[in-house]
Amino acid sequence: MNKITIAIDGFSSTGKSTVAKQLAKALGYVYVDTGAMYRAVTLYAMQSGLINNSDFNVEALIYQLSNINISFKFNAALGFAEVYLNDVNIEKKIRTLEVSSFVSKVAAISKVRKKLVEQQQKMGHDKGVVMDGRDIGTVVFPDAELKLFMTASAETRAERRFQELIERGDKVDYKDVLQNVQERDYIDSNRADSPLIKAKDAIEIDNSHMSLDEQFNKILKLANMTIEDLE
Ligand code: DC
Repeated sequence: MNKITIAIDGFSSTGKSTVAKQLAKALGYVYVDTGAMYRAVTLYAMQSGLINNSDFNVEALIYQLSNINISFKFNAALGFAEVYLNDVNIEKKIRTLEVSSFVSKVAAISKVRKKLVEQQQKMGHDKGVVMDGRDIGTVVFPDAELKLFMTASAETRAERRFQELIERGDKVDYKDVLQNVQERDYIDSNRADSPLIKAKDAIEIDNSHMSLDEQFNKILKLANMTIEDLE
């Protein structure tokens, strides 16, 4: 059976990773969370003292990029690959509001993007991959056979992120989470290098009023139709 590349882009907290994981499992594909890679670089910058309050030493981060090794290891119990920074599992550490509040600034740096995009293209070289992010259908895999663009209102997305953080035991305010979602939307959509835009050939999915099951069934159908069309 032909393998395809599935690119899932969209705003933060639109449920990209949830559906990407479901899809990868159903099709036996590899799932790559590219947001985790930008978050890993952000965590590195924080741990190395390159980010202090609102001070961010961009030059030093660029200089140290070769020290940053990001990898994924499949965790059978969880059913997806967790992200590692220089061989340390950082899957939980990268999901905090602190990392979220800096990651868009890190993701706007062209040299960071160049390094990560090259690694992503290698990971998807043999197809059979579901990759989610902001520039997958536009920059990383412009020839992907199936491109999806996920949207939902900022309030719906902030509510989902807020619940996730609360369930993890983080003490956060809904107001701060909403503000973070809106700030990231703005920075991600307005940066000079690879801004978040819908690829011309992407299918838009607004899941503000869709259940997870409805969404998954719709997307799995699209994937199967795309695979069948190739045969
Ligand atoms: O999907 P996420 O929320 O974990 O992504 C974290 C940040 O990384 C997001 O604010 C934008 C950035 N990002 C990006 O610029 N390009 C990608 N391919 C993936 C994420």
